[in-house]
Amino acid sequence: MLTEVVLPGQVEPEGLELRTRPRPEPGPGQALVAVEASGVSFAEQQMRRGKYYDQPPFPFVPGYDLVGTVVSTGPGVDPALRGRRFAALTKIGGWASHALVDAGDLVEVPEGVDAAEAETVVVNGITAWQMLHRVVKVRPGMTVLVHGANGGVGTTLVQLARHSGIKVIGTASPRHHDAVRTLGATPLDYRDPDLPARVRELAPGGVDAVFDHIGGEGIVDSFRLLARGGTLVSYGTAATRDVPGSSRAPVLKLFARLALWNLLPNGRRAHFFNLWAGRRRLAAFQGRVRADLGQVLALMAKGEFTALVAARIPLSDAAKAMRLAESGTVAGKVVLVPDEDARRSGEEGAR
Ligand SMILES: NC(=O)c1ccc[n+]([C@@H]2O[C@H](COP(=O)([O-])OP(=O)(O)OC[C@H]3O[C@@H](n4cnc5c(N)ncnc54)[C@H](OP(=O)(O)O)[C@@H]3O)[C@@H](O)[C@H]2O)c1
Repeated sequence: MLTEVVLPGQVEPEGLELRTRPRPEPGPGQALVAVEASGVSFAEQQMRRGKYYDQPPFPFVPGYDLVGTVVSTGPGVDPALRGRRFAALTKIGGWASHALVDAGDLVEVPEGVDAAEAETVVVNGITAWQMLHRVVKVRPGMTVLVHGANGGVGTTLVQLARHSGIKVIGTASPRHHDAVRTLGATPLDYRDPDLPARVRELAPGGVDAVFDHIGGEGIVDSFRLLARGGTLVSYGTAATRDVPGSSRAPVLKLFARLALWNLLPNGRRAHFFNLWAGRRRLAAFQGRVRADLGQVLALMAKGEFTALVAARIPLSDAAKAMRLAESGTVAGKVVLVPDEDARRSGEEGAR
């Protein structure tokens, strides 16, 4: 049998339901993965409010990404994948004991890398790597501003940028400033009304890039803080998560604003990053994901990237995991693990 967490509609985390059903057989091109870790992302916070840009119709099984071991393969898939550990971006479906995944979406996890640790860089690692290296094309010596430097994507951005020889200013709540400093960034409070002035004290000529997942009116400051030749990478609208109304309107307003800014003759660029862009050319998209996630996982395997697992929570306690992810107290990523693994790590911790 398979166990999965179902989001039945717009509910509080406690409204998540646990369901069991027979394990499906993988179809052509698919693999059945025994899930060892699945992440809690900001996307699920939006989805449970019906506020995700590409909102899936209710009911559905959330789970933006996963790490697990292939247990069976469908027609046309190399049976040698069985027994090996892979990561995959799924958008939905990861919060389950087993998941069907297109074999082309599987990215091998290096030997010796823990499943929950690998999980912290699936959606986060691909997003951060592509924004740094495909959008901005960062170079050593640059200075960048990372908002939400304690979050899943934020902590990954900071570490990858530091690894590339970049100076990072990271905004977060003061309770996270020590953690942000440990990652090698200079922390600032994103609620400080004088934030732009604080950034200019650290980067008088402006910054080379701003990574902004907040949107709302603050995006204007993000653009203004750029040096000539700098790039604003907007990649979310966290500020409007709790604003009632259309899930698309804030994003469309943001697109219009960015398009307008790109017409200004001031040498700055404004870009909206969408992880799923280009998926219509599937093989090329999957190739980029394999290459980029492969780079981040390789850094982790070499000990040059530290996975920040905020908590390992049993799958059957997904409500607790969501509450924790939404609590504003977390540095890194909340990861759901199979109940028996959570029990085992709890026992080990107690020993
Ligand atoms: N465009 C894409 O392709 C793409 C891909 C992946 C992720 N994303 C976006 O990336 C962002 C981060 O995702 P994640 O999974 O890393 O989330 P996460 O781990 O939950 O971290 C969220 C971060 O945002 C901060 N935050 C939450 N609400 C905020 C608000 N109203 N104003 C300012 N900051 C706020 C949190 O700070 P506290 O802890 O202090 O609350 C935390 O630093 C999300 O906006 C998500 O939509 C976009």
